[in-house]
Order: sequence, then structure tokens, then C-alpha cells
Amino acid sequence: MAVVAFPHRSPRRPGALRVLPAAGATIAHPPPMSRPRHRTRRIVHVSDVHFGSPGVTERTVPLLAAISDLAPSVVAVSGDLTRRAHPEQFREARRFLDALPSPYVVVPGNHDVPFAPWLRFHRRHARFLAHVADEAAPCFIDDDLAVSGMDTTRGFAIDGGRARRGALALVEERFAALPRTAFRVVVAHHPFTKQPGRRSSLAVQKARRALGVFDRLGVDAVLTGHRHETVVVPVTHVAREVERPFLLVQAGTATTYRGRCTERGRNSFVTLDVGRDDVVVVRHVYDPAEDAFVAERPQHFPRLPGPGPDVA
Ligand SMILES: [Fe+2]
Ligand SMILES: [Fe+2]
Repeated sequence: MAVVAFPHRSPRRPGALRVLPAAGATIAHPPPMSRPRHRTRRIVHVSDVHFGSPGVTERTVPLLAAISDLAPSVVAVSGDLTRRAHPEQFREARRFLDALPSPYVVVPGNHDVPFAPWLRFHRRHARFLAHVADEAAPCFIDDDLAVSGMDTTRGFAIDGGRARRGALALVEERFAALPRTAFRVVVAHHPFTKQPGRRSSLAVQKARRALGVFDRLGVDAVLTGHRHETVVVPVTHVAREVERPFLLVQAGTATTYRGRCTERGRNSFVTLDVGRDDVVVVRHVYDPAEDAFVAERPQHFPRLPGPGPDVA
């Protein structure tokens, strides 16, 4: 299987490239009994860039440099691209996305829904779709990595989100035919559980419904933002009804001054290195003295067995 859907419109990344051998070329096949080699895949998870906020444009320079150095397979951008969903803020977000070195999956956040009532209630993603992506829940799928966006925004709520049946059905449709070995990732703006240690934090509406679907589909990681503070935890630590301990990764704000709680005034993003047996998660925090994002100590999590039958 080699299916790739790119959610962007940048002419500099025209889509999946499959390199075919030239006529007459010799194709080297591995020995028949050799074990398939696993290549580590890297996901960069960036959130809450909030273009239109003070200092964001300047902070994207070291952010883009860090992402380029990391050479990810895919970049997940989990919403709140803008401060007020103004067209010029979306245009700035567009330039940021165009400068990324890799394919990306980007979803809208609550700040990307305009306040203007007609737009808000009838075409809440009109500006996102005009400037950012062709759909509000794009995806990236290749042989061993599947990253599906999921739209959790609402017209009737300024801040909160909802796990709608249609959005979950789209994720299910995309993940249904994946091989057991594929690493399955959902990218959404709003978190699906309360934040550990923060009793006042709210999950999306119908969060239990979503967690049940993710559990059944064999999702490996759910990447969110919104709270402007990094949290990495197996879901079973915060949602006892879930059986499969997939990872919840909540990224902080990559560029604004509005980091919260332990990340007050700080900027960060996260990387996930997906190996055959484990997933290594690293937070990268902006260091003003270096004017660069600096990697912190890695956290290791076991790779979970995928759903479905073993491949012989
Ligand atoms: Fe935000
Ligand atoms: Fe948000």
C-alpha cells in the first residue's frame, strides 16, 4: 500500500513521489528470509501558533529552523493558527505552512473560527479553507504511518469543542484498511480528557465516544493543543474506561507569549520518533539565550500491538 494524501496547496510539494526504476535498471530485492527493516518515522507536533499575536512572526524563524533540522516525515499542526481568524492572520499562517520542510496535517482550532455571526454559524471554516487547506480534517497516509486530522471546533462555542459522529466516522474510514504495522495518529485541536492535575480543565463534548472509537481502531497517539501547556501521558492514566494505553500528546504554544501554568511565557513543540518497538517523545523548549529550541530529555513508551491479524 502506498497512499498519500497531502492536505496543502503548496506548489513546492506537489504530492506523493514514487520513484520508478528507469527502463532496463536492475531492481535489488532483499533475500527472501530477511526480516523487513523498520525505518524510524519522525512526527513534529506544533500547536497554537496564533498568528496576529505579538512576537509570533519573529518566533517562527527559530521554530522553522528547528523543524528543518529535525527533518520530520510529517508535521502535525493542531489548530489555533490565528489569534482572531482574520484573513491577514490566515495569510501569515499560509506562509508559515509553505515554509515547512515536510508534508503536514493541519486542523482548525477555536481561534480559527470567525466571530462574525453569519460566518460563524454557517461557514465557520470558510477562511481556513480559503487560505490553509482543502478540508478541515486532512490526512497523511503512507506504508507505516497514518495521520488523520479531526475537526473538533464548534460554531456555538467560543472555547470548547465536540467529538462529532461524522468526524469520528471519517477517522474510522481512513484507518479501517490499514495494515497492523501502521502507526495510527489522530490530530485534533481540543483535548479528549481533563488535564491531569487540573480539575477545572474540560474535555471536548462526547469525549468518551471519541476515546471508545480510538480504542477500537487501535489508535497509537492523539495529538492536541488548546491548553498551551505540554502534557504527554498514556490515556489509561486519565481515562480508566479505555483498555489500550495509547498516547495523549498535548503540545504547548509554539510561538505566543500565552503559555500557561508550567509553561507560562514559554514556547515549545514536541517530536515523536516512531520505532519498531517504542515511541520516543521529546519536548523542545525555546531558549532565549540561544534564540533556538532546545531538546529536553526523551521519554520512551512501548509501541502497542496494532489491531487486526498478524501478517505472515
Ligand atoms: Fe490557543
Ligand atoms: Fe484553542
